[in-house]
Amino acid sequence: CGIVGFTSLNYQSSPVLLKGLEKLEYRGYDSAGIFVPNSDEGMDQLVREKGRVADLEALVATKHVSGTTGIAHTRWATHGEPSVENAHPHMSNDGRFYLVHNGVIENYEELKETMLKDVELHSDTDTEVGVQVIAKLVADEGLSTFDAFNKALTLFSNDSESAYGFLLMDQTEPERMYVAKRKSPLLIGLGKDFNVVTSDAIAVLDQTKDFLELHDGEVAIVDPSEVKLFDEHGATVTREPFHLDIDASETDKGTYPFYMLKEIDEQPIVIRNLLSRYFDADKHVQFGSEILREIREADRLYIIAAGTSYHAGLVGGRMFEQWSGKPTEVHISSEFAYEQPLLSEKPFFIFLSQSGETADSREVLQQINAQGHHSLTLTNVEKSTLWREATYALPLLAGPEIAVASTKAYIAQVTLEAMLAYAVADQAQLGFDLEQELSKIAVDIQGIVDDKETFKQVAEELLVPAQSAFYIGRGVDSAVSLEAALKLKEISYVQAEGFAAGELKHGTLALIEKGTPVIALMTQPKMALLTRGNLAETQARGAKAYTIVSKSIAKANDNYVLPDTIDLLSPLLSVVPTQLLAYYTSLGRGLDVDRPRNLAKSVTVQ
Ligand code: G6P
Repeated sequence: CGIVGFTSLNYQSSPVLLKGLEKLEYRGYDSAGIFVPNSDEGMDQLVREKGRVADLEALVATKHVSGTTGIAHTRWATHGEPSVENAHPHMSNDGRFYLVHNGVIENYEELKETMLKDVELHSDTDTEVGVQVIAKLVADEGLSTFDAFNKALTLFSNDSESAYGFLLMDQTEPERMYVAKRKSPLLIGLGKDFNVVTSDAIAVLDQTKDFLELHDGEVAIVDPSEVKLFDEHGATVTREPFHLDIDASETDKGTYPFYMLKEIDEQPIVIRNLLSRYFDADKHVQFGSEILREIREADRLYIIAAGTSYHAGLVGGRMFEQWSGKPTEVHISSEFAYEQPLLSEKPFFIFLSQSGETADSREVLQQINAQGHHSLTLTNVEKSTLWREATYALPLLAGPEIAVASTKAYIAQVTLEAMLAYAVADQAQLGFDLEQELSKIAVDIQGIVDDKETFKQVAEELLVPAQSAFYIGRGVDSAVSLEAALKLKEISYVQAEGFAAGELKHGTLALIEKGTPVIALMTQPKMALLTRGNLAETQARGAKAYTIVSKSIAKANDNYVLPDTIDLLSPLLSVVPTQLLAYYTSLGRGLDVDRPRNLAKSVTVQ
């Protein structure tokens, strides 16, 4: 979900709020709403709509909304279906308090039973319970808004699982926002005669680039010309703001129809950014010596991630084992968090996360921090939660990634993992120059993205009409197959599976019918022949085959030939055709490529 709040003395708030929501839409888009206080006769204060931010904007245009402060939200449903009633902001029954919220109040059912027995509720959400509880504390106990807010926070946190980013307004203090954060991202943006609050800096870059971080448990009071920050015991906190060096234009899609295509096209630049940051003039990889020492001294690495980042981990894990001789386990964060495997004597953790905010991964980080283990986060968002809470952090330098389907962040993760694995490996024994290989790969990716028309055609013929599809491969190609299938299903809704090619015959082959597309990735010389055999088995059962093959092992009738590279670097090339196939399948099916149904870019709930 996304949050924006704005308070000023003389600027209209609704354009800022709506523009901010547009930028945040990739974080959730099943409903949206704004509250702009204005007690004048005939004014509309609370406007909410089901659907996209554009639907809300259209509705706001028909209403009388005017005011210099306000709060806004775009939702990714957790409790209750997407509907106007369940959209934020939520209002207390006395019409005085308005609340937007990211996260989950885990004990809301219990609070409903104990505190709100006589209160009529109008939605199915935990957030409405939150605002009604605050109103009740004010009405029944005579508390000030600030005290009621703080008391409510302790009630919500009774159950230590609750996560929240809250933005509260009190109709009787229309210039003030009350803010609280716990396990859910929230930042305060500082301006001249105005201040903003947001769950993601990119929503307000047009307003400011100076931000104040909020830590878990902190509460703030934000007025147009002042911000007061308190820790969880009510003591005043002073903190220096930080300046974010992002150009607002980086978050625009320019002439591209969708962000995803822009981000696919940016992949060569991403590799070059990483090369110039992490290789010095003598072509040596530059990381803090501490990070390399920790990796060298560890007896086992644990890579922790979710979604596409997990798939990047499956590639990186192979590099650490095969190049650096370091035993490496790769885990899905939501599994590891609740079923921690037996750890080695000297473990070192590597967290991969585009957003740096994924709640599942953070849960693991908190656990291993408590156990005293050290960690490194590779993330695209500096100052994000996983950045701050790990022992070390390195930036992915991919630039803002907006499309829900991750592309350039995957490329950045695999590239940075390669650099780390290479830095701790015996380079003479490896026998290749990583800097040279990556520079060549950047050029080769450009060649693949220049072949867009080819993939458009293949997508239209092979995948747009398909009910289901398979990607198969062996070794690192099986890891890329998982990513390729995820990309296809998340934006085109084609049921897709990525499979270790040799395993297909042990059950899943039963799903192959006449015309089922099976795309084989073959970049590993020692396994390619076997994959060819597995592909032939599917063709014998009617599958429509398509092959993506490295040049040195390609045959005359292969469909798409990739340039050669070092075996374990091949994912940087082979993933690109699969990104383009997913993109054009989604486009061919007339879908919203950047905002697939049911999903959100950054999932800050477990
Ligand atoms: C969400 C996104 C995925 C992403 C995953 C992990 O589910 O929709 O695209 O791969 O979270 O996100 P992270 O920011 O931790 O890489």
